Amino acid sequence: MKKTILVTGGLGYIGSHTVVELQESNYDVVVIDNLSNSISEVAEKITSITQIPVKLYIGDITDESSLKTLFEQETIGGVIHFAAHKAVGESVQKPFKYYRNNIDGMITLQKVMHQHHVKTIVFSSSCTVYGDTKHSPIAETHPVTEAISPYGTTKLVCEQILKELCRYSGFKGIILRYFNPVGAHPSTCIGELPLGVPDNLVPYITQTAAGIREKLTVFGNDYNTADGTNIRDYIHVVDLARAHVKALDYALSMNQDCEIFNLGTGTGHSVLEVIQAFEQTSGISLPYVIGARRTGDVEQIWADATKAVQILNWTPQYNLHDMMDSAWKWQVALSQNNQKRASKPA
Ligand code: UD1
Repeated sequence: MKKTILVTGGLGYIGSHTVVELQESNYDVVVIDNLSNSISEVAEKITSITQIPVKLYIGDITDESSLKTLFEQETIGGVIHFAAHKAVGESVQKPFKYYRNNIDGMITLQKVMHQHHVKTIVFSSSCTVYGDTKHSPIAETHPVTEAISPYGTTKLVCEQILKELCRYSGFKGIILRYFNPVGAHPSTCIGELPLGVPDNLVPYITQTAAGIREKLTVFGNDYNTADGTNIRDYIHVVDLARAHVKALDYALSMNQDCEIFNLGTGTGHSVLEVIQAFEQTSGISLPYVIGARRTGDVEQIWADATKAVQILNWTPQYNLHDMMDSAWKWQVALSQNNQKRASKPA
């Protein structure tokens, strides 16, 4: 029988791509999303890709009674938990917003899961838990360090809570530590929808190329790297979404336990390499300037993702050019939709 999977934050960037992969892997999916960083139309877009309707609860996972209602109405077989705030910079400005939403959300969700005897959960974490490390590639055995932002703290705390629930309360948990998710679905139906000015590199690049931003600022070129700019491990969001399905399959088959997997390609790229890949793929010359370092940026970090490859049988399929190509096609589709909306009579 098909299992029903609850995806919290399922209309968000990584969540929506994961819903597509789950539906295409023969899971029934229920989404809960509070629309704080997404729009309800994403549900229709998902359906336009998979031809399968999305069962959507608009609600907040910090609201225990709404969650209880959901668990009473649906027969949930496992949970993939994305719903959380994710802007590192904002978390420094508004730490309580992050502690309250991300940690409370995790606790409330797990409490209600516990009450309904649902014990399988895949949790969306981040390589930010490794802190300012100089020794890439980073394997899961690398010690986690004191977080460099309240966002990072929430990921560390949630990981710790999940580990304890697995140890003492019968939970089966998978922690996925993402490196830098970028790109969009090849259909151009779903992708990242940054609100306001993007913090992250790739949406800033595509918005600049589309003329929405004047120019990109590269945050520092005096780092101890080959071209002086930061190095990150960029991973295509569709590869990441596929890894969630593999992780869920694995979690459903394992005994009480908690496993951690890094999700990256295992290759680092500098900011200038990303710009170059974008220019080559799109044929657009990107206006950019070199600026000051951004506070809190780690110099270089990329993944050792061998564990995910070996245990989850997952291999990333897309390279940096594919990532830039899909990100650019998504931006073009977004700009066209915005133009259509603007030209519609009121
Ligand atoms: C960080 C976290 C990541 C988290 C993400 C969420 C780390 C190592 N990574 O990613 O886990 O999921 O935030 O937001 O903590 N850059 C520019 N100009 C720009 C924007 C970015 O030069 O306008 C540079 C940054 O300095 C960095 C690279 O591009 O070197 C990537 O930045 P970004 O996309 O913001 O991601 P991270 O900060 O690496």
